[in-house]
Amino acid sequence: MASEVSLLKLCKGIFGQVRHVHATAAVAAQAASNPRLKKFNIYRWNPDKPDEKPQMQEYQVDLNACGPMVLDALIKIKNEVDPTLTFRRSCREGICGSCSMNIGGINTLACISKIDTNLDKATKIYPLPHMYVIKDLVPDMNNFYIQYQSIQPWLQRNNEAASGTQQYLQSVDDRKKLDGLYECILCACCSTSCPSYWWNGDKYLGPAVLMQAYRWIIDSRDEATEERLNKLRDPFSVYRCHTIMNCTKTCPKGLNPGKAISEIKKLLSGFAKKDKPGLDTAALHN
Ligand code: SF4
Ligand code: SF4
Ligand code: FES
Repeated sequence: MASEVSLLKLCKGIFGQVRHVHATAAVAAQAASNPRLKKFNIYRWNPDKPDEKPQMQEYQVDLNACGPMVLDALIKIKNEVDPTLTFRRSCREGICGSCSMNIGGINTLACISKIDTNLDKATKIYPLPHMYVIKDLVPDMNNFYIQYQSIQPWLQRNNEAASGTQQYLQSVDDRKKLDGLYECILCACCSTSCPSYWWNGDKYLGPAVLMQAYRWIIDSRDEATEERLNKLRDPFSVYRCHTIMNCTKTCPKGLNPGKAISEIKKLLSGFAKKDKPGLDTAALHN
């Protein structure tokens, strides 16, 4: 009797799965006969054809057969329509910062930007603005990374010999001061939305790099505060920021680099001072 019951359950399970497969196939067939075609106008430039001017190329994607994000559409175009379309991506979940580009007039991450489902309107996609272009949607990030390197984005202590032998403790309150700063993924959406960075990108460090400069300046464990601030005391590195706040408006991670820059200005002017550490980490070495 028990074996008859389990046989019945097994048959029901199999028939249920077959019904599900039929239903899925029916939905797919209906979707294929009713495509939702969305246009994407994408910036193209090929360095192998330097005499050809950059141009916009139109692609159509059936949204019924595509994931919901702009990166899904780009990957679909590259895989199924045009393998020469070039762009950066890696994590596809807003963590690596590599898919930053200008979508519908906004600097953002393609992997966490929903496709505008208005089929009457084409979505325009450009590389990050005011950057040299390597190919299509790939900007040259060298200057950005050199500027990041210039702020020495690592913990610095007076007694470097002790590094790696002691744990540098930090109070809970001091650790909280890093919230909203450490989450930056260096996508450069903010810096490339900043008019001051467009005009003075060679000398002005821009919001992304300055926010990281501030992240190390206010870290309670870091002892190079004065040196870090002194490196920023010139007319260009920080003071080209005019508090236009495009940077904060566009950050796809919801961070506030404009505020970090204003905090650096307060420290530079002496209007504010870095607090003493809540935990005296140096005492650990005695
Ligand atoms: S607040 Fe400063 S860094 Fe941000 S966009 Fe404006 S000028 Fe640029
Ligand atoms: S602050 Fe925001 S926009 Fe700027 S680099 Fe960091 S994550 Fe990107
Ligand atoms: S692919 Fe990594 S942030 Fe978009």
